[in-house]
Amino acid sequence: MTRKIFGQLAASVGFAVLLAGCSTTAPLQPMGTPPVAQSEAAPPSPEQLLAAMSLERKVAQIVMPDIGSITPADVRRYRFGTILNGGNSGPYGDDKAPAADWLKLADEFWEASTAPLPGGEPAVPALWATDAVHGHANVIGATVFPHNIALGAAGDADLIRRIGAATAVEIAVTGIDWTFAPTIAVARDDRWGRTYESYSEDPQLVARLGAAMVEGLQGRPGEPGFLGADKVAATAKHFFGDGGTAQGVDQGDVNGDLAELMAIHAAPYPAAIEAGVASVMASFNSINGTKMHGNAPLLTGELRGRLGFDGVVVGDWNGHGQVAGCTNSDCPQALLAGLDVYMVPEDWKALHASLVKQVRNGTIPMQRLDEAVLRVLRLKRQLGTFDGQVKPSDRAYGGRWDLLGSPEHRAIAREAAAKSQVLLKNHGVLPLKPGARIEVAGSAADNIAQQAGGWSVTWQGGGDLTAADFPGATSIFDGIAAAAKAAGGQAVLAKDGQAGGKPDVAIVVFGEEPYAEFVGDRKDLAFRDEEGLALLKAYRAQGIPTVAVFLSGRPLWMNRELNAAEAFVAAWLPGSEGAGVADVLFGQHPATGRLSFSWPASCEGAPLNGPEGALFPLGYGLDLGAAARLAPLDETCNALTADNGAAWFAAGRLGVQVQAVADNAVLPDLRGTGNGITASGIDRKAQEDARRIAFARGAKLTLTGPDSGAAWRIAYQVSARPTASVTVTAGGKPFDITQPLSVAEGKGWRAMVLSAACLGEAGGRLTFASEDAFVIQISEISRDSAAEATECSF
Ligand code: BGC
Ligand code: BGC
Repeated sequence: MTRKIFGQLAASVGFAVLLAGCSTTAPLQPMGTPPVAQSEAAPPSPEQLLAAMSLERKVAQIVMPDIGSITPADVRRYRFGTILNGGNSGPYGDDKAPAADWLKLADEFWEASTAPLPGGEPAVPALWATDAVHGHANVIGATVFPHNIALGAAGDADLIRRIGAATAVEIAVTGIDWTFAPTIAVARDDRWGRTYESYSEDPQLVARLGAAMVEGLQGRPGEPGFLGADKVAATAKHFFGDGGTAQGVDQGDVNGDLAELMAIHAAPYPAAIEAGVASVMASFNSINGTKMHGNAPLLTGELRGRLGFDGVVVGDWNGHGQVAGCTNSDCPQALLAGLDVYMVPEDWKALHASLVKQVRNGTIPMQRLDEAVLRVLRLKRQLGTFDGQVKPSDRAYGGRWDLLGSPEHRAIAREAAAKSQVLLKNHGVLPLKPGARIEVAGSAADNIAQQAGGWSVTWQGGGDLTAADFPGATSIFDGIAAAAKAAGGQAVLAKDGQAGGKPDVAIVVFGEEPYAEFVGDRKDLAFRDEEGLALLKAYRAQGIPTVAVFLSGRPLWMNRELNAAEAFVAAWLPGSEGAGVADVLFGQHPATGRLSFSWPASCEGAPLNGPEGALFPLGYGLDLGAAARLAPLDETCNALTADNGAAWFAAGRLGVQVQAVADNAVLPDLRGTGNGITASGIDRKAQEDARRIAFARGAKLTLTGPDSGAAWRIAYQVSARPTASVTVTAGGKPFDITQPLSVAEGKGWRAMVLSAACLGEAGGRLTFASEDAFVIQISEISRDSAAEATECSF
């Protein structure tokens, strides 16, 4: 039916093109042109569309808002070319929305973007992009594949191609067109919080695996089915240098000789471009001081010119706002430097207005705008968006719920999990013997959210997610239990190692809590959580052999745990199919995983990208049958003792020794809900570097950390004064802060100093209590010995 519209349109000469999805409304009848037969219809070309667009609609093609900040009515009014869902945005404001809601909303946005426009202006469908970075993991019930670091250890390009294909299908089921994957960062400093999004420290391996993922997601250019109904557009990200920032600081600066930097960090791009990658995302980082989003020599000179990329260059989350002289809502520099699409989650209205103005007043040449718009339109043509004008739920894969988390896809994920296990030590315990009585301990043993890692259902993953948020998934314990039973033995779960009786062997599953982006940045490679270590030691003391299964987004200094266990497996972040881990432990699958990152011998965390300073070099990994013995390792780590605990909350994280609790509910990284406290991430200087803390009537929030006797310095903001008493105590008498908080109302960010002068003491604990509902925003809490003796201030 919509074909017919094209028929008429194609027949209409000039600009009377209309890409309306609504077939019941008669399209513009261009004067005197008779409708042509359907079969002859061809959708208008990107160039024809462009020529028929108003300036406002052209600009809208290059503005990408987040679904959390727009409604279908906004889409209908502005006609954005593309939209995204960030890691914390789900349909209708619900991160955990049922899968069907994604498709329903995709239809609504599609209908809004294709509603006929007056005056013969073309109505161009919007594309929806998502971070399907390890499967379509934002969506409940999708297959969650291992993160890239694990796939690097598997090192199997064909497997990655199949993962890409399965992921594309699951995305298509929900009516989404485009994924911001693969990350082809070459992580060179494992302190970086995104190390797990990188396949390897080796640029050649990243190039090979990244290109395979692009092919899996998109198909192969020139072959049938390329970007077809079961495919999505891919994004190679983040161009370039994301993995090369100084000290591994996310979004930081990359220093050095340009050619040398490109030889490492841009090295995977030619392969991705050759594989036909539809888009490239500009990186947050700067190179020698210049932010990439405003870097014409690199975005245009290198990426377009030398590397010959002719697809869409999409910006990162307000990345343009970080360019010198720019804000989120005003940044012609980025377009002029070579960006095609602004990712502007919230400030889209103001950015749209400023861009329109800047094209009108000549700051931005029309030709540069046209070029960017054409790239977006060409991507749509490639994706078949104009062919037949089919709304998401009417497409071949739209609503094929049988394919979301299907057994076939889960089998691929399980294979990937098995292939990525890297055996670092094995003193004769693995493979587990048939008939063995096994105890499985550790808080990660039966914890699907933890094995999935960041970018799973929510941006950060973990937190308050439970197994119920991953229907159809299998925990590592589930896998072990099933395998033990099949081998005539038995496995019991004893999270704290207290099942009773003496098992033949104990498996301790432990590791890093989930994180994403800068929240995962670390100052060193020490692993401070001693839960696993204590369990391993306790079993050893009873003469029970142990297997350590370590979940992490990067290699860490694990000498203590390596010493304490008879066998040690680097399991990375295996995703929803925990059974893949058991497959290797029981010898159902050979141990073929090999390190794609050098494993550190010391905890200090200086960049390690070669055998020097490595405990295990790149490519290391034992076969199950290997007889190699690991000599006892040095357990000194100065960083472990050097931590002075001054920062209690900074850059969106709690200090390593700091805890936030609402009565007895722990709020990891001061985030989550419990006992009347709701703490959520907000942006102050960087994404989610601050918290909005809502107290329900009578709620209490307690922070505990090292007792330094120093004063607390807190950066805070109050937008509405408390309506009843708010107090703070450090253990002594509650001190009433209602009045100063009322004075702070509407005054923006301020500093509060709390010392023994008003609290009576200044130990290692601070409790805020509010008699009535009250909201405060906090971006930093630190201990400040300089302020120790001072008066309290607000
Ligand atoms: C993430 C988004 C996320 C947002 C939250 C960004 O850095 O990539 O997906 O929702 O921060 O502020
Ligand atoms: C991340 C990107 C991601 C985007 C959208 C950014 O913060 O750096 O990798 O694609 O947000 O969620």
